Amino acid sequence: PEGGRVFSGIQPTGVPHLGNYLGALENWVALQNQYPSVLYSIVDLHSITQPQDPADLRRNILDMAASLLACGIDPERAILFQQSQVSEHAELSWILGCLTTLPRLRHLPQWKMKSKVKNEGSVGLFTYPVLQAADILLYKSTHVPVGEDQIQHLELAQDLARIFNGRYGDLFPVPAALLSSTRKVKSLRDPSSKMSKSDSQAMATISITDSPDDIALKLRRAVTDFTSEVTFDPEKRPGVSNLVTIHAAMARMSVEEAVSQARGLDTFAYKKVVTEAVIQRLTPIREEIERLRSDPAHLEGLLARGTLRARELAAPVLREVRQRVGF
Ligand code: ADP
Ligand code: NA
Repeated sequence: PEGGRVFSGIQPTGVPHLGNYLGALENWVALQNQYPSVLYSIVDLHSITQPQDPADLRRNILDMAASLLACGIDPERAILFQQSQVSEHAELSWILGCLTTLPRLRHLPQWKMKSKVKNEGSVGLFTYPVLQAADILLYKSTHVPVGEDQIQHLELAQDLARIFNGRYGDLFPVPAALLSSTRKVKSLRDPSSKMSKSDSQAMATISITDSPDDIALKLRRAVTDFTSEVTFDPEKRPGVSNLVTIHAAMARMSVEEAVSQARGLDTFAYKKVVTEAVIQRLTPIREEIERLRSDPAHLEGLLARGTLRARELAAPVLREVRQRVGF
């Protein structure tokens, strides 16, 4: 990709799990080497759509910054910043919200799901896809890495770019989705559902800061089935296939290669192979997170520098928006 600007955000919900790492962050690291301009935002405005304890939120923001850096985000190549520190996000979100209809938001699947679970959701939860659109458009981003679950939100951002351009004259590129791999990591306890931080079951999720002992224990307990041979068949054998997915991703090889390395092993023995691969990849990351956490002032300084750089890009765009709107 010659030109182009990549934007993506992640909520500061504590240390990422293996699914976040393999499904999103590993791709973020690759993209910073492929695109000339890349922004990654810790989207704390999004996280307060759910109640947050202020002290926890503050700690989670720094933990996420440490995690992103430890996973390989390079602040020289990517602008890493805290969303709430660039107030242009909130202002553009208001303006875009005035171009969005209620039915357009009501049909988004995440609202349907989350408001059902909670029985009632905040206005912020309802409109957060508009804030997401603002996050993207504020930098005139051209490419947005998204998981499948976020495609409809990106479509809203695309619509809002077109609607704004139609009403006020061309300003925003219509951002394209970069579908970050279809690789889904499943819950270790219930491989029919994805590994998720909201999983309340113990041992279902591997955090990127888990100790080698924890990783070994969780993988030993991972649900498989009654066939001892290792094959890859996500439909019929989701548990074993999940182990193969994790093994292949962590050892940087194809699923076929992982299966061939498992030849002759039963699932019990194979779990030890997977454990080794996970420990090998996560150990340097865990150690780097610990090192970074021990110096919060350094992390805060890095984020502050990212914020300045993000603001330099955002301010002229918002100035232009205000003028077009008639402010
Ligand atoms: P969670 O499901 O734990 O709440 P998020 O929704 O915050 O995770 O997702 C953050 C990023 O990680 C998204 O890009 C999402 O697609 C990706 N992701 C989350 N869980 C998985 C998973 N189990 N496998 C692959 N990618 C995932
Ligand atoms: Na989620």
